[in-house]
Amino acid sequence: MACDQTAAWSALQGHFQAHGRDFDLREAFARDPHRHTSLSFEAPSVFADLSKNLLDTATLHFLLDLARETGLEARRDRMLAGEPVNDSESRAVLHTALRAPRGSAPFSAEVHATLDAMLAYADRVRQVESSGIRDVVNIGIGGSDLGPQMAAAALAGYAHPQLNSHFVANVDGHDLGPLLRRLDPRHTLFVVASKTFTTQETMANAQAAKAWFLAAGGTDIAKHFVATTTNVEAAAAFGITTSFGFWDWVGGRYSLWSAIGLPLAIAIGADHFRAMLAGAHAMDRHFAEAPLERNLPVLLGLLDVWYRNFHGFASRSVAPYHQGLRRLPAYLQQLEMESNGKRVDAQGEALRVATAPVVWGEPGTNGQHAYFQMLHQGTDTIPVEFIAVRATSHGPLGFAPAVRAAFEDQHRKLLANCLAQSQALMLGKTAQEALLESPSTASPQMSRQAVARHRSFPGNRPSTTLLLDRLDPTSLGALVALYEHRVFSSGAVWGINSFDQWGVELGKVLCNQLLPRLDSGDVTGLDASTAGLLARLRD
Ligand code: F6P
Repeated sequence: MACDQTAAWSALQGHFQAHGRDFDLREAFARDPHRHTSLSFEAPSVFADLSKNLLDTATLHFLLDLARETGLEARRDRMLAGEPVNDSESRAVLHTALRAPRGSAPFSAEVHATLDAMLAYADRVRQVESSGIRDVVNIGIGGSDLGPQMAAAALAGYAHPQLNSHFVANVDGHDLGPLLRRLDPRHTLFVVASKTFTTQETMANAQAAKAWFLAAGGTDIAKHFVATTTNVEAAAAFGITTSFGFWDWVGGRYSLWSAIGLPLAIAIGADHFRAMLAGAHAMDRHFAEAPLERNLPVLLGLLDVWYRNFHGFASRSVAPYHQGLRRLPAYLQQLEMESNGKRVDAQGEALRVATAPVVWGEPGTNGQHAYFQMLHQGTDTIPVEFIAVRATSHGPLGFAPAVRAAFEDQHRKLLANCLAQSQALMLGKTAQEALLESPSTASPQMSRQAVARHRSFPGNRPSTTLLLDRLDPTSLGALVALYEHRVFSSGAVWGINSFDQWGVELGKVLCNQLLPRLDSGDVTGLDASTAGLLARLRD
């Protein structure tokens, strides 16, 4: 049933009018001393504090009714069983099978055979004395780039010290070019990563890399190029003899766990890669088995529905307070906006409700000195998601004790900043409080009242805080799987197919039509703007 036709939706509308619109976090904490405890949740490797959000247990109750009425659990079970829940492409959606223990999920034999072969290959590359490889360049885009790139940054502390990982995505040669200047073909391995092996950007970069390799005296393409793809034939036609395959039931943005993870496996090794899969699998079990009341991906998905459809918040900011997670916002942008940025439901009927919010962010504390001004005092309410990590991971890097102590001190500052931001967003500061202050930089020409208004904060701005004990392969796997299932959960409530991406097609088709016109200058039939711009670009 369409979500807005359910009894729960009507109940939520009534609840929003009565308690949601004017919900005040400060009053809620004053009223309920147990609020933090009752709105905090444990999932594998992740602790989540939802208490600084504009909801209470009654709201959650109505949202859970909505999940049940829209059939979220049945859809989840159909997905996990391998039924073709990607309706518009008649495909199963089984990224969970990629991290399931041997024999416990569909396609287990193929999955584990490929995984074993890929990890054995990764470990051979890691024998740098015999492989001769020093630089690994992943050429891929979207899901064939963002996942392994994000994870390689997050797990840099686990990386082989003599191997450098590089990620090239953009069709713009200014991405690959500067990197090639620093590489030696004798010590470089290119991983050409593309589910389809037809993507313009990846094919263009792969051709350029091959041309550079041959021009620089490289001879052994078979040794220096490897492909990760579902289209092994196309890789062979390109001249690549070593390929690791995967399957059409692995969506591009869900493919980190497949052969697309090869550059990560080369960086961190087979055991750590398997630990990441195990962390994700633990989250899969939680998603499949935990009662909805304590099911963290479901609760986060429902929170997203509450904010998007009832409060009308159009964006969510992600602020990982760990430099290793600096690529997580970009990864989540594809995961969430490509999955749920839809305007029709799974049957192709127009939706009457808003779907995916804009997801954006930067690591803390950097964002604090850039856009947090708007989060605190702008006219829009933007829920923020803080991600903090309890322990540092500098240990294995072998710094001197004094340096380690300095890093520990920096970590305390990082955590204090993280807590301070969610506190400031919630508490705010009244103009009366600001009036008691005498800021040295305030203009003497401005009245004290006006200065106080500039310096006041509305507060009551919501945030979620996710805590990891440490950032390691297991917790990273769990965190990413949490986000995957959260996106599934909001998508299931909205009734959309979160696993297709038809919206990327039109631009690709038009690009292919415009490409020859850039050479010929033919603007026949083009709109005046495109024709004018094309002419200027050719001048
Ligand atoms: O154009 C969008 C998209 O299809 C993404 O969904 C995908 O992750 C990316 O392009 C790359 O596709 P491929 O892995 O087939 O090169």
